[in-house]
Amino acid sequence: TADPPPIRRPQRPSVVAHRGASAERPEHTIAAYELAIAQGAEGLECDVRLTSDHHLVCVHDRTVDRTSSGTGVVSEMSLAELRDLDFGSWHAWGRPQSVLTLSELLTLALDHDTPVRLFIETKHPVRYGGLVEQLLLAELHRFGIASPPSADHSRAAVISFSAGAVWRVRRNAPMLPTILLGDTARILGGSAATAVGATGIGPSIMTLRDHPEAVDRAAASGRATYCWTVDEYADVTHCARIGVDFLATNHPGRIRQWLEPT
Ligand code: G3P
Ligand code: CA
Repeated sequence: TADPPPIRRPQRPSVVAHRGASAERPEHTIAAYELAIAQGAEGLECDVRLTSDHHLVCVHDRTVDRTSSGTGVVSEMSLAELRDLDFGSWHAWGRPQSVLTLSELLTLALDHDTPVRLFIETKHPVRYGGLVEQLLLAELHRFGIASPPSADHSRAAVISFSAGAVWRVRRNAPMLPTILLGDTARILGGSAATAVGATGIGPSIMTLRDHPEAVDRAAASGRATYCWTVDEYADVTHCARIGVDFLATNHPGRIRQWLEPT
């Protein structure tokens, strides 16, 4: 079939590579993020989890079973144990990859000639009582990006389904953009974001198909909308039409093509 026509808008959504270019490369690996940047992604999404020796690694699931050559719970394994596993060969691409630490991802993103923004999602915030956010902010400080001059100029945003995690980040790094993820009426209506000081809302595309008005309502209170996970042409056109700011996708290459030229 022929390629669909490009979507033209004066201000199109920014394309955020969800776990990197995760359809074409194993998620959360250097290969996935390098391809995403090469394909023109403007943002990189990653999930962070804590290891038993308190390093932050980019892994989505509670265990390594789905995305590596090993088995086990991430938070019960040391970074050295994770480094012994292959996080690439499970994917159709078929080449070995190492576990990626948040520090390595920040180095990749910030050393790159093309400026990209990181959307860092905290996982398991309750069990570790804020330790994930504490280590995350320490890392952003170390890289000099925890206190941007404005949200628009920030190289990182913290995103989370946990209102508590967003609240802790706002309290300790007030200039950092934060997005409260979720599909509840309180998130769509804005009251949950107000309560914790989130600078944006993050509904799923399933919800935004039926509630496009949430985007204008968020914008009216100065909040951005981040929508996940948007891979289909009809959803991309919908998001562009209703004014979504950030669109997280597993296919950054093809979405960038659909959204060009601006
Ligand atoms: O970008 C937000 C989205 O990643 C949330 O869902 O399960 O993929 O982390 P999940
Ligand atoms: Ca995520």
